[in-house]
Amino acid sequence: GLSVMEAAHKHDIDLEGACEGSLACSTCHVIVDPAWFDKLDEPTEDEEDMLDLAFGLERTSRLGCQII
Ligand code: FES
Repeated sequence: GLSVMEAAHKHDIDLEGACEGSLACSTCHVIVDPAWFDKLDEPTEDEEDMLDLAFGLERTSRLGCQII
């Protein structure tokens, strides 16, 4: 399936993704609706590390390229 980042790009939604999903940036940072957050697979440690660098981190923050 498409990641949230890929789906956003496909639909002209303004979401960056500077490293194109290779977990080398945090520009695809999204804040997930709490109703959905717990339904997602747990983030990997690599995603957590990159997320820590994201601007405006929230409890339900994820990297858009890692949500499939
Ligand atoms: Fe770079 Fe998601 S696009 S980490």
